[in-house]
Amino acid sequence: MPLVVSRTIGSRSLFLITRFIVDRTTQWGKCSVKRSGDMTAMKTPPSVKTSPLWNLLRWIIQPLELLDECNHRYGDCFTISFGSIAPLVFFSDPKAIEQIFAANPNLFDSGRANWILRSTLGDHSLLLLDGDRHHRQRQLLMPPFHGERMRTYGQLIGQITEKVTNHWQVGKPFIVRPFMQEISIQVILQAVFGLTEGDRLRQLKQHLDAMLKLTTTRFGFAMAFFPILQRDFGAWSPGGQFVRIMQAIDQLLYAEIQERRENLDPSRTDILSLLLTARDEAGQSMTDLELRDELMTLLVAGHETTATAITWALYWIHSLPEVKAKLMAELASLETDPEPMTIARLPYLNAVCSETLRIYPVGFIAELRLPKEPVRVQDYEFGTDVALVPCIYLTHHRKDLYPESKQFRPERFLERSFSAFEFYPFGGSNRRCIGAAFALLEMKLALVTILSRYQLALAEERPVIPIRRGVTIAPRGGIRMVMTGQRFTQEKAAPAFVSA
Ligand code: HEM
Repeated sequence: MPLVVSRTIGSRSLFLITRFIVDRTTQWGKCSVKRSGDMTAMKTPPSVKTSPLWNLLRWIIQPLELLDECNHRYGDCFTISFGSIAPLVFFSDPKAIEQIFAANPNLFDSGRANWILRSTLGDHSLLLLDGDRHHRQRQLLMPPFHGERMRTYGQLIGQITEKVTNHWQVGKPFIVRPFMQEISIQVILQAVFGLTEGDRLRQLKQHLDAMLKLTTTRFGFAMAFFPILQRDFGAWSPGGQFVRIMQAIDQLLYAEIQERRENLDPSRTDILSLLLTARDEAGQSMTDLELRDELMTLLVAGHETTATAITWALYWIHSLPEVKAKLMAELASLETDPEPMTIARLPYLNAVCSETLRIYPVGFIAELRLPKEPVRVQDYEFGTDVALVPCIYLTHHRKDLYPESKQFRPERFLERSFSAFEFYPFGGSNRRCIGAAFALLEMKLALVTILSRYQLALAEERPVIPIRRGVTIAPRGGIRMVMTGQRFTQEKAAPAFVSA
């Protein structure tokens, strides 16, 4: 949209107007980073020369192109300024990533840097907390995402994938992403609330969909930088729509929390039930406000990302016949009724999922790390007036680690192993994604269910390119495909976990 406007009113006017708005309204100014002079006499990485406003527009519209160009021009580490916000320092060298991830977590504020998510996720969201409070919430949230719990999700994922994709018809093209979004929202709603049907679930899904539609466009992402766009000027304005959707979601979440508190059922295994009974080291349970914010965090972080990852995987598998053939051969070697965990361990399937998350990592940067005191990374020293950014996308495209990095080649993950600083689609340190194992399991089981049931082909007329979708990177247009045949009849469905 800004580019269309620029043609009408001229780029100089656009520049001045936008700069005025950015300078006066952008929230990063309120990031409380000290604008001290403590960067003097320190060795600092090269700074991108273009104007901060231009950088901001490109960051919104063409983030990967901006990163590629800066990397080409300035190398492994560079600083980009975006106006009155803290400049971001991007790192891609694994040695630098290791230093950042291995540093004492108390050196950094990450939550403070995630202000962009505050209006959706709330002050108590894991993504917005730091220090002891972050540690406490993480301890409470981690157990549902580990060990035995994961097994119970396996069956759920297969069944939901089967139900959602049953709508596909031979010869009728469809857009993949909305189906994957439907699978992942149903999976996360059931895993989080244990709800399979009912009015509340239906309404929650509907409002979450509406919220994502509003916030994941480029305009929606830009809204976060300009509070004026977030103002409630009535139900017709984007800000007004957002406020109303969030109020509706809150009402539903609080009603569910209250009902479940009053009828605690120890036999339930969903995440809300576990959180309601969880106690921290001091024996304290979570408040309603904390529960609301964490539920919202899991719902948002847990389904949008995974839906995009499965969509990309289907695209790559169907655009490269040799990849598909190898994967199908691996699936054919499975004995009948394989366990979900057996599927999760398949080497080539694992390599396909890793390569999918390498080439266009859905979260293309990790959370920003704001130093609380001067820190040193490699030869550089930083004050408290910058934000350090482990750049997942650029590390995943380093020529020394991933030759011909723009090519999709799962074999690279079979030929050698990569360290947690060379391949980190889920970030690292105390902020590492808590849903990583859950997301990988969902990716693998949804893919196997789909590939075992249907013959699909790409129906794209133009090359698919990655574009910004909120804070993630997704395929433009959501990938058009067509079903060319069915591999199994409804009665003789794919792996047993699907129809068990
Ligand atoms: C393919 C899917 C996913 C990808 C690529 C992904 C990626 C990421 C990344 C890059 C981070 C930042 C880590 C850092 O800064 O070091 C993160 C954080 C997080 N993710 Fe995920 N994620 C995915 C799925 C999920 C799922 C399924 C859930 C939950 C159900 C989830 C919940 C979270 C939470 C709560 C955090 C914040 C952790 C913290 O700040 O302590 N994510 N994720």
